[in-house]
Amino acid sequence: MRPFQLVPLLCALTLLGCERKQAPAPAAGPKGSGSAQPTSGPLPVGFVGALTGPEAHFGLESRNGVQLAVEETNAAGGIQGRPLVLRSYDSQSRPEEAANAMTRLVTQDRVLFVVGENQSSNSLAMAPAAASGEVPMIAPSSTNPRVTSEGGPFVFRVCFTDTFQGQLLARFARETLKAERVAMLVDQKSDYAVGLAKVFAGRFTALGGKIVSDEAYAKGDTDFRGQLTRAKSTRPDILFIPGYYSDVGPLARQARELGIRATLLGGDGWDSGERLGQLGGAAVEGALYSTHFAADNPGARVKDFLAKYQARFGHLPDALGALGYDAARVGIDALRRSGAVGGPTLREQIARTRDFDGITGRITIGPDRDAVKPAVIVKLVKGQPTFAAEVSP
Ligand code: PHE
Repeated sequence: MRPFQLVPLLCALTLLGCERKQAPAPAAGPKGSGSAQPTSGPLPVGFVGALTGPEAHFGLESRNGVQLAVEETNAAGGIQGRPLVLRSYDSQSRPEEAANAMTRLVTQDRVLFVVGENQSSNSLAMAPAAASGEVPMIAPSSTNPRVTSEGGPFVFRVCFTDTFQGQLLARFARETLKAERVAMLVDQKSDYAVGLAKVFAGRFTALGGKIVSDEAYAKGDTDFRGQLTRAKSTRPDILFIPGYYSDVGPLARQARELGIRATLLGGDGWDSGERLGQLGGAAVEGALYSTHFAADNPGARVKDFLAKYQARFGHLPDALGALGYDAARVGIDALRRSGAVGGPTLREQIARTRDFDGITGRITIGPDRDAVKPAVIVKLVKGQPTFAAEVSP
């Protein structure tokens, strides 16, 4: 784990120095750290995401979005004249590292809120530190229902959940693609993949379709030929792979090598800009997935954001950049309303977020601390994610 802006620098600036020396050991976590915040100087906010490792695209893009939101806020005078300062950590795409990062942000950096993590399993691992330190955590893209239901009152998300996503994918498969037979390949190490497969299968079956094969793999596997050979023998119309782009690329190549012609279908875990097209090549041509945002969605009024993001980072944002930006802005907006006070006061203001004008849609935080939002369906055309449809809850 590598902090991007080192803690000692902050101490030297006398911002939080004395408090940090007496900070309890990471495992303990201070209660109500919000009230222990200094009343002047920069306001620290945190980010945790995969900046290295197989799913590095997720964290790098989301962090861009957070950074943009922080820079804009500071350019406009900060909050009560105090600038925000971003403390960012790499989860390396691993739950244990994500949990360590959250503990550091809470006990050492004393941040007011944290944007993170992208992957549901990592957010679940971070939640206990958010609860014990009473530091709100806003997950930009963790869609598994358990992230908020088990994560406790300090965990929020600005995206839809897999209860919605799994159902819309099942409807899309059955009604739009007219599929009868679906073979699933499910990453058993990912809470996200396991949960999404379950919702999808339940709904697809209820709509009269058939799950003809349900095969397992584990994140990071490289040989899927055994599972794919069994899946092929069941003659599926669709291969549903509710995992991450990093595994889908090689999986798709092997499926085509084995002569599987079925349409490839997935969820938001495939969202990776041009990465999936590069990893999968011709094998993923025409593949479809649901996600939170598409830069070429004609219905999205986000031209300013696209231009700003492109100017700052040299490429257009995908769902991860847009959700990182939205999550940070929801936190910043609440921080403004809380008078720059963290802890339970800030938690309360985040929970009160209503009709927030986000890039990925209007954000209202419900009683379960989730957002209810539309999804988009994207198709890979010549390797490029291309907007295909918008689906409302
Ligand atoms: N929804 C995925 C999860 O919960 C993460 C993700 C979201 C990945 C959006 C890409 C884009 O694990």
